[in-house]
Amino acid sequence: MNSPVMQGLNLKAPGYVKNARLIAWVADMVALCKPDSLYWCDGSQAEYDRLCQQLVDAGTFRKLDPVKRPNSFLACSDPSDVARVEDRTFICSHRKEDAGPTNNWMAPADMRATLQPLFDGCMKGRTMYVVPFSMGPLGSPIAHIGIELSDSAYVAVNMQIMTRMGKEVFDVLGVNGEFVPCIHTVGAPLEPGQQDVTWPCNKTKYIVQYPETREIWSYGSGYGGNALLGKKCFALRIASRMGRDQGWLAEHMLILGVTNPQGRKYHVAAAFPSACGKTNFAMLIPPQGFEGWTVTTIGDDIAWIKPRADGKMYAINPEAGYFGVAPGTNTLTNPNCMASLDKNVIFTNVALTDDGDVWWEGMGPAPDHAIDWQGKDWTPQTAKETGAKAAHPNARFTVAAINNPALDSAWDDPAGVPIDAFIFGGRRSTTVPLVSEARNWMEGVYMAATMGSETTAAIVGQVGVVRRDPFAMLPFCGYNMSDYFQHWLDLEHKLEDSGHTLPRIFCVNWFRKGDDGKFVWPGYGENMRVLKWMIDRIEGQAGGTEHVFGISPGYEDLTWTGLQFSREQFKTVTGIDKAAWQKELELHTELFQQLEYHLPKELAQTKALIEQRLAQ
Ligand code: GTP
Ligand code: SPV
Ligand code: MN
Repeated sequence: MNSPVMQGLNLKAPGYVKNARLIAWVADMVALCKPDSLYWCDGSQAEYDRLCQQLVDAGTFRKLDPVKRPNSFLACSDPSDVARVEDRTFICSHRKEDAGPTNNWMAPADMRATLQPLFDGCMKGRTMYVVPFSMGPLGSPIAHIGIELSDSAYVAVNMQIMTRMGKEVFDVLGVNGEFVPCIHTVGAPLEPGQQDVTWPCNKTKYIVQYPETREIWSYGSGYGGNALLGKKCFALRIASRMGRDQGWLAEHMLILGVTNPQGRKYHVAAAFPSACGKTNFAMLIPPQGFEGWTVTTIGDDIAWIKPRADGKMYAINPEAGYFGVAPGTNTLTNPNCMASLDKNVIFTNVALTDDGDVWWEGMGPAPDHAIDWQGKDWTPQTAKETGAKAAHPNARFTVAAINNPALDSAWDDPAGVPIDAFIFGGRRSTTVPLVSEARNWMEGVYMAATMGSETTAAIVGQVGVVRRDPFAMLPFCGYNMSDYFQHWLDLEHKLEDSGHTLPRIFCVNWFRKGDDGKFVWPGYGENMRVLKWMIDRIEGQAGGTEHVFGISPGYEDLTWTGLQFSREQFKTVTGIDKAAWQKELELHTELFQQLEYHLPKELAQTKALIEQRLAQ
């Protein structure tokens, strides 16, 4: 503990930090990472402003025009550090089987031996920020605490927006409270006198979860889910494992409230893979013809769901902000989101306009000139010639939930909201119909488990390849996927035995394309038509036709007021092509072969039933 490198570094925690395990862990991490200084974040506005100014001075942030975009900043990352790195993400359980075939695995001891030399001295020349945060309303029975140690001020200010961050967390933590230790470094120590770069990171990257000891170690990236450790690493990978052990769910789901003209309110949680429409759906504005309907946002990315004694499952949004996809967002597709971005925003990897504002593809008319996310001149003309994007396709905004005009009044309620329906949806240009309702829990779990989706820019790698993404959790399940399926199946009996009404399960696909390669379904606000059908189904008010996979609406069963959408178009987005489904089921077979260990037998049985029906 008394190594010479720590001389001059004040290790003393503020007086309000009373948790002995925390203090000891911070001291250990300081000794390992050897930062020049240690800073305990208090979560105040003054601190946020100070750190943002520091980032401006360092060239990481650019302050945007104070009239057009008050108190907002633009950060541009290193071109090699732009999205989650799934191939560098590891679940280090003791047994390989407990990570399962869909996760990268290394034995904990081997991983610790690998990380030790990388972390040794990794913060030299930098400040270590201690970032205390609560996932979920402070003190909620559904919430949990984490502490992130990071050498990135960018991470500290983003965590301030994305979580309940600040010194109040230490009061909840108390002397013996539990927390998930999260250590993060950009992996770019500075030698004395060495000039820093604006986005330090390292070619080598490790995003490591130890599910049994509930620890997170992240090395080499400063971007998004790789670095804001409360998000995917804690709220999904570690929390899914906690949920399995303790009987609850941590899901890659938005949560919304929907009220019908009769004033009855329902809550829906929907799982779509990364960059497949959660933020958009969570902020939906009902179109013309849906007067009297309102949709309000509880969360846009993650849901923690716990069954309660009153017979319902209650969900909270563990986050306090949105780290959302910028490209494609505009005042027509998502007006609530655009309004959320008026002020107090951190933009990452969008383009800078000549008047000090931001622009991205799909925001509206292109400016005549901009500086693209890589700092180069950009014009619509050069874009036409070279295809150069002004904003990176995974460019994001970080903004507080309280900026959202459609925020639900219960978004911060420690009790959570009761869930009436689950929705699962992938991005599929063919095969999967607009909407279907599962006839029972089993059928719903089957559809979620076998869901496929085309990959997006949210992940480093190839875009547009169909892959199985069970429950939209492929990159986020912190344990064996088959055990996860079993956990979902077991819920049915657990809930029914205790008198619960099970939420309905629906599957959607907004992304079917026509022969011209364009989306046929108008999507966005028009998704209300599908949401209304679901609510009407719950109320026993809407028709539907049974088919091979469940129940879908006929043309007459949806409300078309205010939209020109022909029967022909409807057929294009709902048609079930037998040959395509036979191929699709082969992909289910492949998935089940991959997940053979512990695969619940009910899933294979359900598949056999579908195959029988399909053959008829
Ligand atoms: P993560 O934050 O990565 O988990 O993503 P998300 O699911 O919240 O994705 P988001 O809502 O930000 O949408 C990502 C992209 O999908 C944007 O480019 C949207 O324009 C597009 N999108 C969203 N909803 C729809 C829709 O209904 N139809 C179509 N065609 N595109 C949509
Ligand atoms: C996702 O990829 O699903 C995201 C963005 O929500 S990130 O926080 O980077 O994981
Ligand atoms: Mn996400």
